[in-house]
Amino acid sequence: MSKIQIKGGNNLSGTIRIGGAKNSAVALIPAAILCDSKVTICNVPDITDTEALEEILKYLGANISRASESIIIDSSTIENKEIPEGISKKLRASYYFMGALLGRYKQVEMHFPGGCSIGARPIDLHLKGFEALGATVEEDGNKYKVYVKDKVLKGANIFLDIASVGATINIMLAAVYAKGVTTIENAAKEPEIVNVATFLNQMGANIKGAGTNTIKIKGVTELTGCFHEVIPDRIEAGTYLIAGAMCGKYLKIDNIIPEHLELVISKLSEMGVEMEVGTDYVIVNAPKEYKPTHIRTAVYPGFPTDLQQPFMALLTQANGKSIVEEKIWENRFMHVPYLNKMGAKIEMCGDKATVEGKTELTGCEVIATDLRAGAAMVVAGLLAKNTTTIDNVEHILRGYEDIIDKLNNVGAEIKFID
Ligand code: EPZ
Repeated sequence: MSKIQIKGGNNLSGTIRIGGAKNSAVALIPAAILCDSKVTICNVPDITDTEALEEILKYLGANISRASESIIIDSSTIENKEIPEGISKKLRASYYFMGALLGRYKQVEMHFPGGCSIGARPIDLHLKGFEALGATVEEDGNKYKVYVKDKVLKGANIFLDIASVGATINIMLAAVYAKGVTTIENAAKEPEIVNVATFLNQMGANIKGAGTNTIKIKGVTELTGCFHEVIPDRIEAGTYLIAGAMCGKYLKIDNIIPEHLELVISKLSEMGVEMEVGTDYVIVNAPKEYKPTHIRTAVYPGFPTDLQQPFMALLTQANGKSIVEEKIWENRFMHVPYLNKMGAKIEMCGDKATVEGKTELTGCEVIATDLRAGAAMVVAGLLAKNTTTIDNVEHILRGYEDIIDKLNNVGAEIKFID
């Protein structure tokens, strides 16, 4: 795996333009197969996760063309064949093909990898939703066959035990053609879910309540092609906002929806970070000192778990003790040993980490154990003295489009090395 090297200590000034949301795009691309006419999705981030999903679409026989940040998907020629593990295991979000293929063909067979480094990541709630719609689920190891004998999915009332993002979206995809009304109670409310529901409605679906904890899907008989835009990536934006809180001199994070980052902005303000919040941007300036704070990750609009890791790098600079509680994933502190190797003083106990600050960070060899742990290493490396070398950067490239150029353009010294 290749490496990234960062010479730390530079101020970051200028503008970083945020791209389309990974966690929207990875659902919109599979959702496109629900209709057999052309769909154009613009503002798609060019990251390895979207490339992997486009590979699955091509495997199924779809025609795809990319023009800068837009992709045009024509699913009129796809065939519903088994998706082998070799391609589905490249990313967790391949599970959205379950809901989309079940929704369109009333049958799907695919291998689906189990957990990943941040947790077991089961899909029991997805499968419970499919069964509620009348499907039969057959599991053989990590191979799933989901089908409906009479080829008719029926609307159902589904109560999610956990407000799962993936299960909410996958059930929506499976239910768009179901006969009758499907209600999802305790649905996740993330902005990416609203983005997917809007896309489906533009194709002709009948979905109401996305963004609330009750979503109603009234089955329709036909969907047609449409043009849709991916919302800005609130996690990419939050990552660069945190970097700006660490090293920014009037750093502008542009093309964002600030409302999607309300709690993160509030926490940064609590710490004494100066920000100007505009309609579609935030200008951030690193303060001389930071106050400690307490973050608890939660479902939207709570503090996003995906920013817990980079935010912890910032907490190492606060004067005093900060607390981080990771309430969503059972193993999302793998960045801690590497922050401590750089000079941080972080202690972990179960789902809680205590960060003693202020500590001076010094660059060294670290590893990106997962996508957002990698983001934490980048953020810490931008501030740290000397040079930080990050290994396993493929994790970072899954979710951060053009990260090297975006940071170098605002004064960082970051590059790939062999
Ligand atoms: C989505 O994952 C995101 N990924 C994750 O972002 C994000 O951390 C997560 O939502 C929470 O916000 C994508 O959107 C592609 P969940 P997802 O289902 O849908 C448990 C990143 O860094 N659960 O909301 O897989 C699960 O174990 C990634 O961009 C079940 O128990 O998350 C977890 O504890 C990492 N059974 C909790 O629910 C299920 O069937 C939330 O998971 C499903 C989930």
